[in-house]
Amino acid sequence: MPYYRATGEIPRKRHIRFNRPDGGLYAEELMGEEGFSSDSSLLYHTHPPTAIVKSEAVPDAFSHANLAPNHPLLPRHYRTQELVAGGDLVVGRQPLVGNEDVLISYVAATADSELYRNSVGDEAVYLQSGSARFESVYGAIDATAGDYVVVPRGTIHRWLPSKDGPAGSANNAQTPVVALVIEARGHIRPPKRYLSQTGQFLEHAPYCERDLHGVTGPLLAGGEDVPVIVRNRGGLTRLTYAYHPFDVVGWDGCLYPYAFNIADFEPIVKRTHAPPPVHQTFEGPNFVICSFCPRPLDFDPRSVPIPYNHHNVDSDEMMFYVAGDYSARAGSGVGIGSITLHPSGFTHGPTPGAVEAVVAGMAAGRTTTDETAVMIDTFRPLLLAPQASSAEDPEYAWSWARAARGSQ
Ligand SMILES: [Fe+2]
Repeated sequence: MPYYRATGEIPRKRHIRFNRPDGGLYAEELMGEEGFSSDSSLLYHTHPPTAIVKSEAVPDAFSHANLAPNHPLLPRHYRTQELVAGGDLVVGRQPLVGNEDVLISYVAATADSELYRNSVGDEAVYLQSGSARFESVYGAIDATAGDYVVVPRGTIHRWLPSKDGPAGSANNAQTPVVALVIEARGHIRPPKRYLSQTGQFLEHAPYCERDLHGVTGPLLAGGEDVPVIVRNRGGLTRLTYAYHPFDVVGWDGCLYPYAFNIADFEPIVKRTHAPPPVHQTFEGPNFVICSFCPRPLDFDPRSVPIPYNHHNVDSDEMMFYVAGDYSARAGSGVGIGSITLHPSGFTHGPTPGAVEAVVAGMAAGRTTTDETAVMIDTFRPLLLAPQASSAEDPEYAWSWARAARGSQ
């Protein structure tokens, strides 16, 4: 992250002796990106964060090895409601698409996760519905629907879905936390063009520092022999730590988890239709994340108010339809909870007849679009995970032709 935060107790200067109440020294842990040439934070643990007592392999249900090319080439539509629900926000993830740069999964979690550290890259976890407490070495975030929670690589954390009622009560079931999980093989950051040379959000950016919510804490957890699931390039390992990793009394720096709610994204509109880069929210290695939010319809009297047919020749486009009424794809079967994949090699656009329908709506007084969607565009082709096929709509690819011929 571009700006500095401090939480809990820290000494006057870096790397000076910082004593615990019992006279011993707190143990420093410097978390740094890009060989300590980029953002970092310095954490102070009660016990050494290096002390491990056990290492065990864990079966990896969501390996990149199971991904297959999108062949024969087709646009795809997945109905996420048809995927299996349950599990937790870490090992309950069901991969849908991925490549060498990013893996995108869906989860409808009802259980608390174990402690987890992703050492392959940053994660952006977008909550479509439900709420959950995110706890980490840095502190906690109470995440709600619409939040992107950005978790830096190497952050030990866990996810605790919110309970519906008080502990022990009859209605203490957990409402599923439905989330799209974007796992990068690198870092997820605000686009560079939104930032000044020194990292401040510029006035033209669709969000700014006030919209980014950091952690509260520290959590000051105790305990010994604490297991942590670690993902690295080799797969999953359960490392048992001699002391609880959340024994941090304070930290400072520019590297930490944070939440950004999609409702705080300020849409940028033009008189005629604005292209997808105006919706960009984050960038990762060879991919971007965009937020489509409710906004005024394009307001030129002759505007074509929904997307034109387009071919993003260097990218595959994945869209998760989160809320509202997605006019451009009316009649295609796409609805809330749908995920579409429009790959390079295929020109896509609105359902034939959709422009005319929206123009008629504008003539009748409609002035806004209420759609909310999360889009990920990748610069390498997205491969398909076998779990996705159980929720695929086999008729989707033909929906444009069906509408065109039906309207002749
Ligand atoms: Fe598109």
